[in-house]
Amino acid sequence: MNVTLDILRFDPEADKKSHRKKYDVTVEPTDRVLDALMHISRHEDGTLAFRKSCAHGVCGSDAMRINGKEGLACKTLIRDVAKNDGDVIQLDPLNHMPIQKDLMVDQTVFLSKFKAIEPYFKPKTQPPANGEYLQSAEERAVIDEATKCINCGACYSACPVLDDNPDFVGPAALVAAARFVFDSRDEGLKSRLDIVDQPNAVWSCDNHFECTKVCPRDIKITKLINFTKQAIKKHKEGTEA
Ligand code: SF4
Ligand code: FES
Repeated sequence: MNVTLDILRFDPEADKKSHRKKYDVTVEPTDRVLDALMHISRHEDGTLAFRKSCAHGVCGSDAMRINGKEGLACKTLIRDVAKNDGDVIQLDPLNHMPIQKDLMVDQTVFLSKFKAIEPYFKPKTQPPANGEYLQSAEERAVIDEATKCINCGACYSACPVLDDNPDFVGPAALVAAARFVFDSRDEGLKSRLDIVDQPNAVWSCDNHFECTKVCPRDIKITKLINFTKQAIKKHKEGTEA
C-alpha cells in the first residue's frame, strides 16, 4: 500500500519556524512506522532527523506523536494508523521538550527531573552475609509494573498538567519514584518524601489518565502516582504498614 508521511520539520540552526513536509512511501500494512522513516532517511532524504536505537520497543528512543498520539515508531504498525491506500500519517516530535531537529527533542530538562527523584537503590540495611538483597516474589510483584519503564517520555508529552505547569516533574519521574518507594529493600518513601511530597510532584497530578493511555509499556502510571499519594498520607498520619 502507499501512504504519505506528513512530518514536522524544524532545524533551529536554519529555520525561523517549523514547516511540514510530505513523503510518499510504499509499505506493507505490517511494516512499522519506523521502517517507513528508515526508508525515507536511507533513500529519499538523509536530512530527516529522528532517534532510534533498539528498534524493538526496549530503549524508548523513538517516541513521537503519531497521528497526534504518543507512541514508539518501532512498535506502531502502519495498519494501526493507516487503514486505506493513500492515507496520511502525521508525525510530530514529543510535546513539552524543545525540538533539537525535526522529530528529535532535547531531553535535558526531562532527564534532570528524572534524576532529581533519586531513581536508584538506597538499601535500608547493611548487605547480608551472602551480599544479596533478597525479596519475596510477593514483594517483587509490588514494584513489577514500575520497573518496566523505558524512560521514553511519551507520558511526559501527553500530560496536560505540563501544558500549564512546566515545573511539574512529570509522570515518568513519579513512576521512577514509585519503583523505589515501594521496594521492600529500599529506604523507600522515607528518603524521597521531600522530593515527591511537593506541589510540583505528586500533588500536581490531577488524574487526567492521559499518561496511562499512551504508555507503550502499559504501566498504570496514574494509579502508581495515587498509591504514592496514599503512602505519603499514611506516613504523615503514622499509619503506614
Ligand atoms: S512510564 Fe511509560 S510512557 Fe512514561 S517514560 Fe516510562 S515507559 Fe515511557
Ligand atoms: S527504537 Fe528502541 S524503543 Fe523504539
